[in-house]
Amino acid sequence: MKVCVIGGAGYIGSHAVLELVNDGHEVVVIDNLSTGTRDAVDEKARFYLGDITNEKQLFDIFSEETLLGRFDAVMHFAAKIVVPESVSHPLEYYHNNVEGVRIMLKTMVQHGIKNVIFSSTAAVYGDVKKDICTEDDELKPINPYGESKLASERLIHWVAQAYDMNYCIFRYFNVAGAHESLKIGLKRDNLTHIIPITVQTALKIRSSMVIFGDDYPTPDGTCIRDYIHVADLAFAHVLGMKYIVNENKSATINLGSSTGYSVKQVIDEVSQYFPVNYSIGPRREGDPAKLIASSERAKNLLGWTVKRTLKDIIKTDLDFRIKHETR
Ligand SMILES: NC(=O)c1ccc[n+]([C@@H]2O[C@H](COP(=O)([O-])OP(=O)(O)OC[C@H]3O[C@@H](n4cnc5c(N)ncnc54)[C@H](O)[C@@H]3O)[C@@H](O)[C@H]2O)c1
Repeated sequence: MKVCVIGGAGYIGSHAVLELVNDGHEVVVIDNLSTGTRDAVDEKARFYLGDITNEKQLFDIFSEETLLGRFDAVMHFAAKIVVPESVSHPLEYYHNNVEGVRIMLKTMVQHGIKNVIFSSTAAVYGDVKKDICTEDDELKPINPYGESKLASERLIHWVAQAYDMNYCIFRYFNVAGAHESLKIGLKRDNLTHIIPITVQTALKIRSSMVIFGDDYPTPDGTCIRDYIHVADLAFAHVLGMKYIVNENKSATINLGSSTGYSVKQVIDEVSQYFPVNYSIGPRREGDPAKLIASSERAKNLLGWTVKRTLKDIIKTDLDFRIKHETR
């Protein structure tokens, strides 16, 4: 298939590009490189420097590509994703994340493209009170980032209904790890995720880290989360694309492992390689004790399950950081 990957120079998008290329698809990447990097894009993909919020630019790129053959599907990864920044800059977040999706959908309609795959997030569920989260749970985001993703989900749903399109919306849980080639992984100035922070602490890139609360009702008192390797997540996009194109259907699907690990278990795993210097701080507001995805739907509809373990996630992130951040 011919696939347009918008945001394909970023962490997750670049992994999706690689999975698509390896599965034999023709891939075109559009990215404004605001957080992504050109060298993360596999050389077999065609690259356009472009901004999804620039209607004319997107229209022109789609028109140029359509002359070579129409896209079978468009994948969207082009979002701003930092929760605290979304609270201080909601206008920018709605503009980039929601207006960007509106322009993408309009451009797809104008070019007769019927299939869209969208990266959403567990943040659309908000302050989850249940241990296992299913796709039919209540949607109640608690910050502008989560709201912008939910608004995009709804927009995609209504546009798909009006213009006879198919969509696959994926709600990701905690994505981490790096590609086994160590060419691509999570590079960011202000990392907020627990696994790269723990790895950086072990590598002495940070002097120490804080565990936010050790008095939760969990076996060791620290929060439990569902971690998924970025390559497993990326491969689900290939399956999701085939599902909506071949079955002519739409779906909204959680992507997680259905397994939870505590913050202390993550630190213990990283400590197998190097010691981790940490302290215990107070709980953070809005952090549920336990958040695990139900992956039943992904298994039933796509035949997808995770192949990589927490050990694989940590080892690839560690090797990636040793290669890119300590030399
Ligand atoms: N990383 C996670 O843990 C996580 C969790 C849940 C959901 N997601 C979703 O996954 C998607 C990808 O996230 P990521 O972690 O790879 O982030 P990222 O910042 O690494 O990638 C986003 C990419 O989109 C590009 N981009 C942003 N705005 C753009 C625009 N207006 N026009 C063109 N390109 C633009 C950036 O340059 C970057 O290459 C996002 O939609 C995010 O909401 C990520």
